[in-house]
This record gives sequence, structure tokens and C-alpha cells, in this order.
Amino acid sequence: MGEKIPQAFIDDLIARTDIVELINSRISLRKAGRQYVACCPFHSEKTPSFTVSLQKQFYYCFGCGVHGTAISFLMAFDHLNFVEAIEELAQQAGMVVPRESNQLPDTSHRKLYEVLSFAADFYHQQLKVNVNQNQGRIKAYLRERGLSRSIVAEFKLGFAPSRWDILLSNTQLSLRPYLKEAGLVIDRDSGHCYDRFRGRLIFPIHDYRGQVIGFGGRLLGGEGSPKYLNSPETSLFHKRRELYGLYQVRKSIRNYEKILVVEGYMDVLSLAQHKIRYVVATLGTATTSEQLTRLFQMTSQVIFCFDGDRAGQEAAWRALETALPLLKQGRQVQFMFLPTGEDPDTLIRAEGQVAFESRLEKAVPLSEVLLNGLQRKVKLDNIDGRVHLIELARPFIAKIPSGVYQDMLFSRLAEIAQIGQVSLARYLRKSEIPRQQLNCAIDMDSPVQKMIAILLQHPNLIHIIEDSFSLQGLKGVELQLLQSLITLLRSNPYLNTASLLEHWKESKMGQQLRQLAIRELFLTDNDMILELKAAIACLQAQAADDRMEVLSNRPVLTAEEQQELLILLAAKQSNKHIL
Ligand code: CTP
Ligand code: MN
Repeated sequence: MGEKIPQAFIDDLIARTDIVELINSRISLRKAGRQYVACCPFHSEKTPSFTVSLQKQFYYCFGCGVHGTAISFLMAFDHLNFVEAIEELAQQAGMVVPRESNQLPDTSHRKLYEVLSFAADFYHQQLKVNVNQNQGRIKAYLRERGLSRSIVAEFKLGFAPSRWDILLSNTQLSLRPYLKEAGLVIDRDSGHCYDRFRGRLIFPIHDYRGQVIGFGGRLLGGEGSPKYLNSPETSLFHKRRELYGLYQVRKSIRNYEKILVVEGYMDVLSLAQHKIRYVVATLGTATTSEQLTRLFQMTSQVIFCFDGDRAGQEAAWRALETALPLLKQGRQVQFMFLPTGEDPDTLIRAEGQVAFESRLEKAVPLSEVLLNGLQRKVKLDNIDGRVHLIELARPFIAKIPSGVYQDMLFSRLAEIAQIGQVSLARYLRKSEIPRQQLNCAIDMDSPVQKMIAILLQHPNLIHIIEDSFSLQGLKGVELQLLQSLITLLRSNPYLNTASLLEHWKESKMGQQLRQLAIRELFLTDNDMILELKAAIACLQAQAADDRMEVLSNRPVLTAEEQQELLILLAAKQSNKHIL
């Protein structure tokens, strides 16, 4: 066959697969604490020792030791080979497995940008042609959705006609090989390609610099499915990293007092049409901490807009959990809940800008959403209920960086639980897990092992590691593994534990990594970050020591080297004072 399934596709597939749902559709799982459990399907037992972790997307049996990801589960349980397991998962996720042929086209990013930009122009041109035809459906559709020419032009909306190869056949020969990698065409079995987007209104997705990196496409009219089709993950397009409309926000506003996060492309357009320009949309996923981090680089106030229904409440809760670790001083997160059945598009068209913005003024602060949400789970009229509230609040408060925000939440909690702040502080501290008990089978004295284990289990913490961090100059067996892990996560920060394991599946390191994935770290989220930072500091100190030794052993030093040595020595001295 000689055909390889691209790693990026496997990453994407794992990101879209929920291992709990997958396994639960074959054997019945029960929730137990943070895990799901069942009697192991791979050995016979009476009490459950088979566990599945939602967060790690990983299963492990304490009885017989089997473990793995969604892919290996399907291989073992359904008796599939690797490719068949991928096919099965892809089918469930509604994806088509791409194949890298042997003669790969040159995958330079420049060509990809070029072909994406060409496609955006082409679809935009098609839209203009259609609008100018008298009986064109597009014109009617745009009118029905209330979008003016200037908004259509600014967001460069397009139209993909209902033909199988209109984009393909209009793309110049030299760019055609890149259409597939750009996610614009789909490979048919026979090796022939066809256009991904057909009969759809096209929303180009720009990165923050304004380069087109992907597309969303909406069916015209109500029927058919899926209503929205998006570009697949490509080397340029990562849904969990980008935000629709971000580029237009940056272009149209100087000073962003606040940014509103909505769910749909149409919501962004419709609000822009009504002069509300500080709006971005996620791309069909929950908001990620990377997206929020990017927004907080632009503004200090982020407002999430959700439906008022249960799904909206749940989505808000997820956004809240993502936001907590980012609540540094001065930052604010608020939630705007819409009347049931409305979305920002329908609401602004019904009420207009002024009414919409006055609703926005009444958005609920995160602290209130959090404490209200927790209070709903307990009865505050007795002591047990109030203690329970404190217990429920503990992990949330622990996630917030210490500072004014944490303090204020703390005092509000004390007020609600009717306990003095001093007692509350004492109470929360007393029941913390004592440090000595934090020993796990991983050698937590080895900063390298510790970093590997933490990053593997909590890949999102890659953002803690600064770009300047480098392992250069250090020696040790596991350093290479750590270095590859960091490099991989920096370019793909959305990977989860399972996809990381799949990256190293074939190598010797795979076994070691799976062992590290199994271990419980017994760390709170806060401690996890502290441990990671401590390990980084330790490695940096080690690198400095090594360098000093190298320099000290040289018979002659250049002026720069002397200077470097002095700086290293001074840094070491001042560190000692701190310790
Ligand atoms: N979405 C998606 N895939 C789908 C459905 C939705 O990616 N099959 C994403 C799109 O980004 C879409 C957003 O979720 O913009 C919201 O979807 P939905 O609420 O279904 O649609 P609306 O935005 O209300 O779109 P419209 O008003 O055009 O019906
Ligand atoms: Mn809508």
C-alpha cells in the first residue's frame, strides 16, 4: 500500500473522540470520582478494576494491566488492526481518513497560504457573480439574513456552487497539489479529488494577521446536513487556537475595552452589521485556554454569550473552568445569558444595538456564576450544607492565581458560608493533603521525569513553559524525550494525553510514556503548576552550573566568556540568598 495516515489526522481524530463514550457504548461504565470504572473486558473479574479517564483519554486496568487509548481499545475489543480502528473512529466522527501518497507535494506553508487565499478570492468572486444574477439565491439569502454589501465585503463571504470540482478545475495547475493539504478538496478512493465545499455560503477564517487559514460553509436554506461544514485541522488551521472575527476586531477597533465571545459565524456578522464590533466566535468547540489567553492579550474584559437553556449553562460552566487559571489581577470574565431560543443574531435583529448593549451591561461576573452554581447544589440553612459548599468551592478557588481576585472570592465565600475569613482560611489549609504524602511512583526528585509526567498528563500546561526555556547544555537520558515533548506541544498545544501517546507509539519511549500516563500524580491543579515551575527552575540552575563548570575549566577565557561567568556566579550567589 505504501500509504500512511498523517499524524495530524490522528491527532485531530483523537481530539474529537471521547474515549468514555466509545467504551461505554461497548461495556457499561460507572462514574467513580474522577474516573469511570467497569469490570475489565480483557480478564475475568468480579469487582471492577478497569478504569477510564476522561481527562487523559486513556484506560487502565489495575487487575491485568491492559492500558491504552481509544485506538488501542478498539484494536483489542473489536479485534481490528490499526488502520481499521482509525477508520472506525473516523466514521463515528464523520471524518474521511486521508492518505499521504508516497510522492508528497512540497508542504511549504507559503504555498498553503497561497492556495487558501486563492480559494477565498474565488468563492468571493462566485458570490458576487451570483448576487448580480437576477434570480440568484444568494442575494435572497443575504437579504433574509440582513447582511449588507459592506459586511459581505469586509468578511469576504463567498459562495461555493453545487458542483463537484469547480474550485479544483479553476485552480492553476501549480497550486492544485496543495488543495488537499489545505483541506479544500477530498480524496476519492480512486485518487481523484472533489471539492469539500459545495452549495454553501462560505465564511473564510483568518488568522490574527489576516491570512486565510480555513473556511466554514453553511448550507443555504434550512434542510440538509450538516448545516455547517468546516475545514479539517491542517498544519495552518487549528480550531482550538483560532477565533472567527478576531482579525476584523483588530482591524476595526483601536482600543478594546471588552471582547464578546459568541458561538456562531452568523452571530459575529449580525452583530457587526449592528455596529457591535468587539465580537469573536469559537469554531464549533468550547473555548480553550489558548483562545482566552489570546483575548486577554488584547483586552482585560471578556464576556461570554450563551443560551439561557441548560446546554448554555453547561457551556458557561466549562468556559468558567477554563478561565479560572487565567484570572490575573485586573482581568474580568463575565457571562451574558440569552433568553431561551434566541441567539445573538436573532436577538440583535429583534431588539437593535442599544437594547443588546444594555443587556451586555448586565452580564454576570464569573464569581457570581461560580458561587451561584455551587450554592444550587447545597442547602445553606444547615452547617452540613455550608461545609459542603466550602468543599465544593475549594478546587475552584485553588485554580485561581493568588491575588486580589482570589481574595475577593474567598471573602464572598466566607460570607455565604457564614464563617469568618480566618476560620475559612484555616479550614481550607488544614484539610490540604500533607506534602509528604504526595509521593508517587514517579521519581519526583528528578525534574526531568517530573516535567515529562506533568506535561503528559496535563498538556495544556505547556503555556507555563516560557519560550526562552531551553534544555541546551544539559545531559541525561530523558532530556531528549522531554525536549521532543515540549517541541511537539509548542506546535500542537491542543494535543491530549492520548494523542501524545499515539505520537510515540512506535518508539521505545512509548512504553515509558504509557507508564508515566498511568501514574496518579496526586497533585492539585495549583500544585501541579508549582511543581512544574520548580522543575524548570531546577533545570535552569543545573544548566547554569554545567556551563560554569565548562567555563571554569578552560585555560583561557575570552572577554565575553569572562563576563558570562561573572553573571552566572552572581546569579548563583543571589539564588543562595533567596534560598
Ligand atoms: N457549528 C459547526 N458544525 C455544525 C453546527 C454548528 O461547526 N454542524 C458551529 C458553527 O461555527 C456555527 C456555530 O457552531 O456557526 C453555531 O451553530 P448553530 O447554533 O447551529 O447555528 P447558528 O450560528 O445559529 O447558525 P444559523 O443562524 O446560520 O442557523
Ligand atoms: Mn443563528
